[in-house]
Amino acid sequence: MEIRREEETEDRSLSPPIKGSMQIAGSTGFGHSIEFMSQAYLRNRYSEIDIEDVTSDTNKYHPLPIFLKFEDVRYRVRNSQASSNNPVKAVVSKVATQLNMEQHNQKQILKGITGSIGPGEILALMGPSGSGKTTLLKVIGGRLVDNVEGKITYNDIPYNAAVKRRIGFVTQDDVLLPQLTVEETLVFAAFLRLPTNMNRQQKYERVEKIVKELGLERCRHTRIGGGFVKGISGGERKRTSIGYEILVDPSLLLLDEPTSGLDSTSANRLLIILHGLAKAGRTIITTIHQPSSRMFHMFDKILLIAEGYPVYYGRARESMEYFSSLRFIPEIPMNPAEFLLDLATGQVNDISVPGDLLEAQGSPDFEKAVIKFLQLNYKTELEPKEKEENHRTTDTPEHLQLAIQVKKDWTLAWWEQFMILLRRTFRERCTDYFDKLRLVQALGVAVLLGLLWWKSNIDTEAHLRDQIGLMFYICIFWTSSSLFGAVYVFPFEKIYLVKERKADMYRLSVYYVCSTLCDMVAHILYPTFFMIILYFMADFNRTVPCFFLTLSGILLVAITSQGAGELFGAAVMSIKRAGMVASLILMLFLLTGGYYVQHIPKFMRWLKYLSFMYYGFRLLLKVQYSGDQLYDCQSQGGCRPLQSSPSFDMVNLDGGLQEVWVLLAMAVGYRLCAYLCLRRRINMCSL
Ligand SMILES: Nc1ncnc2c1ncn2[C@@H]1O[C@H](COP(=O)(O)OP(=O)(O)OP(=O)(O)O)[C@@H](O)[C@H]1O
Ligand SMILES: [Mg+2]
Repeated sequence: MEIRREEETEDRSLSPPIKGSMQIAGSTGFGHSIEFMSQAYLRNRYSEIDIEDVTSDTNKYHPLPIFLKFEDVRYRVRNSQASSNNPVKAVVSKVATQLNMEQHNQKQILKGITGSIGPGEILALMGPSGSGKTTLLKVIGGRLVDNVEGKITYNDIPYNAAVKRRIGFVTQDDVLLPQLTVEETLVFAAFLRLPTNMNRQQKYERVEKIVKELGLERCRHTRIGGGFVKGISGGERKRTSIGYEILVDPSLLLLDEPTSGLDSTSANRLLIILHGLAKAGRTIITTIHQPSSRMFHMFDKILLIAEGYPVYYGRARESMEYFSSLRFIPEIPMNPAEFLLDLATGQVNDISVPGDLLEAQGSPDFEKAVIKFLQLNYKTELEPKEKEENHRTTDTPEHLQLAIQVKKDWTLAWWEQFMILLRRTFRERCTDYFDKLRLVQALGVAVLLGLLWWKSNIDTEAHLRDQIGLMFYICIFWTSSSLFGAVYVFPFEKIYLVKERKADMYRLSVYYVCSTLCDMVAHILYPTFFMIILYFMADFNRTVPCFFLTLSGILLVAITSQGAGELFGAAVMSIKRAGMVASLILMLFLLTGGYYVQHIPKFMRWLKYLSFMYYGFRLLLKVQYSGDQLYDCQSQGGCRPLQSSPSFDMVNLDGGLQEVWVLLAMAVGYRLCAYLCLRRRINMCSL
């Protein structure tokens, strides 16, 4: 069989294009006209290259054409890849790999895949589960870089940061924030991702166009949902994911099983949409499991993979012809996709097999023999032609090569990203902040404590001890509440964060600042309500400065604990482990907080200096009591100053409020470390 290429590029002249009206005549060797891409990719090829003209009318916008070629792509993983999180093991393993000592410990997932695809075309990756489709898609999308061999070029240029921004990746599992509506998801994405030279109106128009194109009008005001949150249907979610990616008009759109879980009508409709997107000049690669025959014929090319090795690559409509030439012929009418998948798994029931395989028929290794046979034929018949074809059409027009190296400018200034992301973060999390149960919990506990310590006083040593106990309890309550409230934030949002960071949507620092600032709303609001109730019920020192200083002290403790929670969450990045680490550290800080044990042995004393509880508790005591205040007047010895009480053995009540500075430094320090941990963790993660 021959993989037919249509006419070769006729005009490869490298003369500079005319501003704004450049025409690329003829076709490119990828079998289609690219006249529609003639808008304005290149204004001045040697200086400031203005790639796309999106300023005046969004409808005039066309994506930059991408001609993708991949040759002999191989990918392997170490069986013990989990260990790579440990930097020491990772280095040792890397050295071992380079010395070829670990060959036996490696699993080859992609075993030499070659192909090419251009704008206007859809390439379908097919194959049984575990054959390597997603892996290939990730390699092409630049999401897997280590241990990849072979050559992948985009307009004859290798992968780089500028290419990254022209790729849209729709993952197998939809990663969308559950609390936002479909429209909000797209609008926030538009404002974060679209170029700065588009105005607000144009961004809204783009969202509107996508909502209409993808048939999302009916659910535009419905929450995305997921997990325990009710939301849109699976098909709508998939279409939203696609909309989210095509919003920025990626030149290369990669989709991992976009039709899984959809009924055949919805799947068909989705494919028609993809077809339309391809015809508008995009290069599309999609993995697909069970396309209907109608859908199958909408693909331009098929890459059939079996166990990481290609068994067919070529035009979809020529696939049956190729397999018939090998004497694999369906004996009953069959959907071509089903036929191809049967072959890729080596199950040839109702399929006649070539004479060479008849001998092996019935043996336990028959399926393996079929796959081997197909792989061998691919190697001898299809691969050389594809490689030759790839080499023959090496020269993508120079302006496209240059254009793809120019970073698509959509990065907003830090402050602009901050304003958009702050609104989105608040919108996403506000249901959690204003949760009725949370309010009831804070108010309920305040009332309960207020009743237990009703009109407490410091008339005697025992009463003083009781009141100090309440102080410490308040400290524990808000420390643990803030710590546990913050520790899960990053592990929960990890997948969204990784996805959006991979798409270069915003700076990590912007995300972090927005996250911590928004969460502060809850960490300030509830302790304030709590203290207003409890302060007067428990009858603490009734002066205005004392009330506000106590409240500020509690808020400072809560905000410092939030920072610590964020640090532990970012350090472990796992929901399960985050809780365990937080409770362990909380227990340690609690014990060294200065209430249970005041006289800690010297060799353990350093622990208390790490504990924000220790400083928080001391601060509250200093704010509430003064050293020369008299108490215990009804005792035999008469009134005594508070400083003489054994409860204040280790606290100088009139010693100044230096704890405020320590807590502030801790709040900033924990956050700085949390940010650095998050940065490291997110860079290491892949989706
Ligand atoms: N990091 C990894 N470590 C070990 N094995 C891996 C790793 N990544 C992928 N694999 C293995 O590589 C093979 C291909 O995985 P891939 O996800 O690409 O399959 P797939 O064709 O997309 O399957 P499906 O259709 O089920 O999504 C699988 O056997 C998988 O277990
Ligand atoms: Mg997959």
